[in-house]
Amino acid sequence: MEAHPLRLATLADVPAITALIGLSARGLCLSDYTAAQIEAALGTAWGCDSELIRDGTYFVAEANGDLIASGGWGRRKTMFGGDARPGRQSEFLDPACDAARIRAFFVHPDWARHGLARAMLNRCESEAMANGFKAAELMATLTGQRFYSKLGYHGSEIVEYSVGNGETIRFIPMRRSFDSTSEISASPQ
Ligand SMILES: CC(C)(COP(=O)(O)OP(=O)(O)OC[C@H]1O[C@@H](n2cnc3c(N)ncnc32)[C@H](O)[C@@H]1OP(=O)(O)O)[C@@H](O)C(=O)NCCC(=O)NCCS
Repeated sequence: MEAHPLRLATLADVPAITALIGLSARGLCLSDYTAAQIEAALGTAWGCDSELIRDGTYFVAEANGDLIASGGWGRRKTMFGGDARPGRQSEFLDPACDAARIRAFFVHPDWARHGLARAMLNRCESEAMANGFKAAELMATLTGQRFYSKLGYHGSEIVEYSVGNGETIRFIPMRRSFDSTSEISASPQ
């Protein structure tokens, strides 16, 4: 049995997920982004997407009653961003021709490198495959890129997004085909 079994997030978890995202970004992203970039991104690009929770595709792990990791997958077009980010794309993807989204992975700094993100990714990919998807795509932080590249995701083009307060952050679109023989590059946004 998993040491920290995943459970589906509920809307009651939103405050704790939001707090976890702040701790994770401030604790684990400082070698890739400045403090000003992180604070600006936390208002928009990084945040809890309650649509994922309502869709039943967002997971959390706990230790001693506290959230230590959260992450999920998306069956809708939105590629990244919390509730506060404008430009949501809530249209459903078509598993026959679209890639599922991997969304909003955040691990508590005290629990980094304990395999929590790997466990969440395995769960997300299994569910996406069970729902007919043939590939997954995501918008990786520079921090996340090191993780996803170890787990079969490809992509190296750097894209820059405005996150407010005059700040931008760099992301890397990444993709993994569940059929490794038909790997193609991440689609442009
Ligand atoms: C990216 C993140 C989710 C990874 O979570 P994690 O639980 O620490 O990852 P895991 O322990 O499951 O790592 C699995 C493997 O990925 C690789 N990996 C993970 N983090 C890595 C890092 N910082 N540098 C290099 N390789 C890394 C390693 O191969 C690792 O296996 P190992 O520890 O046995 O060597 C976490 O660092 C995080 O929350 N970062 C801040 C928020 C963020 O940027 N999220 C990504 C959004 S796209």
